[in-house]
Formats: sequence, C-alpha cells, structure tokens
Amino acid sequence: MTSNDETTATTGGAALDGPTAWRALTPLMDLVTPMALRVAVTLRLPDLMDEDGSDIDDLAARAGADPDALGRLLRHLVSRDVFVEPRPGTFAVNGTAALLRRDHPSAVWRWLDLDGFGGRMDLAFTGLADTVRTGQPAWPAVFGAPFWHYLDANPELSASFDATMAANAAYRELSEGYDWSALTRMADVGGGTGALLAELLLRHDGLRGVLIDLPDTASRAAVPGRARAGGPVRDGRAELLRRTARRLRRVRAQPCAA
Ligand SMILES: C[S@@+](CC[C@H](N)C(=O)[O-])C[C@H]1O[C@@H](n2cnc3c(N)ncnc32)[C@H](O)[C@@H]1O
Repeated sequence: MTSNDETTATTGGAALDGPTAWRALTPLMDLVTPMALRVAVTLRLPDLMDEDGSDIDDLAARAGADPDALGRLLRHLVSRDVFVEPRPGTFAVNGTAALLRRDHPSAVWRWLDLDGFGGRMDLAFTGLADTVRTGQPAWPAVFGAPFWHYLDANPELSASFDATMAANAAYRELSEGYDWSALTRMADVGGGTGALLAELLLRHDGLRGVLIDLPDTASRAAVPGRARAGGPVRDGRAELLRRTARRLRRVRAQPCAA
C-alpha cells in the first residue's frame, strides 16, 4: 500500500493512530531531503567524488565543507538512496546521484543549485503563506525587490536564470513534436538567450526567426545566422507585433552557424 492509498483508506472517518499519521504525512512534509539534495548539488559533491569513492575528509576539503556536517548530510542522502557509502567514511556516486552532475544532459542541477537561480527561486516558497493570504507575489517579500528588478541588480543571478531557461529539456521535444516545416518565419517572444529558436533553426532549414527579450538577455543570445535578437516588449502587444513584423521582413537567409 502506498502512502497515498494509506491516506485515502483512513479518510472515511476512522481515527488515524499517531504512527500511521506520521507514515502518511512524512513524505509530504519532509523538507530535509529536498534541502540536503540542493546542498549536495551546491557543493558539487556528485562532481567532486572519485569514481571508486572519496574519503569524507578529502571530500570536505575539496567542497569547502565541515567533515562532520558533510558526513551527516551524506548519510541522510544515502538513507534516501542518493549516493552510497561502500566503506565507513567513504562516499560514492550511485545512479541517482549521477543525474545531479553538472555535465548530465538533463541539467537538473541548475534547478537545485542554491547559488544559482533555481535554488534561489525555491527559497521564495518561504513566502507562500503570505502569497495565499494576500494574493501578492512572494519574491519581493522574500528578497526585497520585484523579480525582474532583482535580476537586473544581480547580473550573476540573471545569467544563471538565462542559462536555466536555455537548459530546458523540452525544447528538443518541441522541435520534433510539431511540423515546423509548414512555417517560414517565427518570433520567440520572451525567448531568453534563444535556445529554442536555435534548436528550431538548426533542424529546419527553411525557417528564419526573431528573438525578442530584455536587452541584457538578448545581448547574450547565441542564435544561428538566420535569427536576429531584439526587444524588449515595453508598450504591449501592438507595439511588439509592429516591431516584430518589421524585423521579420529584414531578416535574410544566411548559412546556419552550427
Ligand atoms: C520564464 S522566461 C521563459 C524563457 C523561454 N521562453 C522558456 O520558455 O524557457 C521569460 C523570459 O521573458 C523575458 N522577458 C521578461 N520581460 C520581458 C519584456 N518586457 N520583453 C521581452 N522579454 C521579456 C525574460 O528575460 C525571460 O527570458
């Protein structure tokens, strides 16, 4: 019986005993494992560990961590089947931990790194109760400035945001899941650094495109020769469509830089 079944089975009026209630609710309420996972990624533990395992003191020195605290963190994660401890005090990457490496194609690590956009965004959830009470976004209450202003004032986080968006695993599916060959021109509005546009242009020879985004983001765009970057959208839809239409007309077919 899964914990969900257990919850359902006990909602018919029968009183839950204490242990059953804890078993049903713990998977839903535990913040330790999600935070431990994020700390492991932030400290780059999956990338720093030797293939055959690393001694905790060596690992702590490499990660810039306290050996005792790091050992406790890792033992918790081992108990959740992330990492293994083949010998006491030696830790190694297992299949799950390998998914968190920075060179893994999923780029999941970007969403967990507490020094980057993904982890910072998760911390905004500490303001969720106020958001539900007031209907107001949590970001300004938690970090002291509206989201886009905050990114403007923090170039490193802004670059991390762009990279997190660009690492979207769904772009490939999007590129393959629609008959783009029916189109000759497209605009990606709020298209970040152009990762989706680049994916589409690389796969569809006849397509040309325009990327519209904020100035800093557009300046970091890496789009193939058949695309142009521009933006931002300031005055609403009509202005955007007028400018986009002008840009689309100006784009010339060029060899695609792979
Ligand atoms: C959530 S991201 C989406 C990125 C990408 N389209 C994706 O789906 O992965 C939103 C994008 O909108 C851009 N953006 C925000 N305000 C904008 C504006 N006024 N004009 C143009 N782009 C804007 C941001 O810089 C960011 O790249």
